[in-house]
Amino acid sequence: MNKLSVLTRAFSSSSSLNAVKTVTVVGGGLMGSGIAQVAAQAGQNVTIVDLKLELLEKAWTSIEQNLTRVAKKVHKDDAAKIETFVQDAASRIKVSTKVEDGVNADLIIEAIVEKLDVKQELFNKLDLLAPEHTILASNTSSISINAIGAGIKRKDRFGGLHFFNPVPIMRLLEVIKGDQISEQTYQTMMEWGKSIGKTCITCKDTPGFVVNRLLGPYSAEALRMYERGDAKAEDIDLAMKLACGYPMGPFELADYTGLDTKKAILGVMLEATGDPVFRPIPVLDRLVEEGKLGRKSGEGIYKYEK
Ligand code: 3HC
Repeated sequence: MNKLSVLTRAFSSSSSLNAVKTVTVVGGGLMGSGIAQVAAQAGQNVTIVDLKLELLEKAWTSIEQNLTRVAKKVHKDDAAKIETFVQDAASRIKVSTKVEDGVNADLIIEAIVEKLDVKQELFNKLDLLAPEHTILASNTSSISINAIGAGIKRKDRFGGLHFFNPVPIMRLLEVIKGDQISEQTYQTMMEWGKSIGKTCITCKDTPGFVVNRLLGPYSAEALRMYERGDAKAEDIDLAMKLACGYPMGPFELADYTGLDTKKAILGVMLEATGDPVFRPIPVLDRLVEEGKLGRKSGEGIYKYEK
């Protein structure tokens, strides 16, 4: 299936929605805004919650831009339809700095910082405030779903929904089954993934799930090659694009998703598996310490124009 059919499928599936009609995304960063966008595109009412107003403003700008990109693809040169598509989807999105404003939803997805204690605190609060039927889900990329939900009562209505960057374009959704998820919750999550145009795969609550378990060692080894000076970053990237057909090389991808995110994922994976392939990488630590986080900060492995 190509990119356009993914976008079209998400758009045309809006009428066949059953269980999930209202979605709240907690966290207005890159992932959170992407998740909000695809849900709104599919006809669902969405609330984005973030404590920082400036992040919500940034999220709104990027959603409007990305909706326009999608609309242009779906409706080609039909300016009126493009405008209607963007306005319709945007009108379904609300933003708030208070989590209380987002608790009345069928599905609440957390996409905040990759820190276990911060996520646990949020879920404990959501568990108390959200209506009985609400499903809670984490977009964590590597932290254990069971650990995140350890303190909540509704363990049967809790799981992982792991998206990929850029959310509107990447076709995969990893649906993560915690130990106590009910069959009904799992099926609702799979159905919801389909309703927003994603292809879902299922994975147990295992470190890094499928994608990051494989991507982690790959990017760690690439960083070590670069650190040792075995080959230039540009050549390593070129090698993987031309030899393996990857759309981005390991450094382009790491800069794209963020070096701080990469470091956090490797740290969680090391703790969870004890596998030395995930051990700290001095060049990665140094770049993160210097604030060189990739595209978002203007410099990572590569330098970017503002
Ligand atoms: N919203 C809507 N459309 C978007 C978009 C967005 N956010 N970003 C890109 N697009 C569209 C563009 O409009 C363009 O459309 P067109 O083909 O009709 O012109 C198309 O996507 C391609 O974009 P660009 O021309 O800007 O650039 P590229 O052709 O280089 O593609 C890319 C960019 C889609 C990011 C591609 O390089 C890619 O697929 N890279 C790999 C990304 C990847 O591996 N993601 C997974 C990361 S791992 C992860 O997320 C896990 C987490 O836990 C960290």
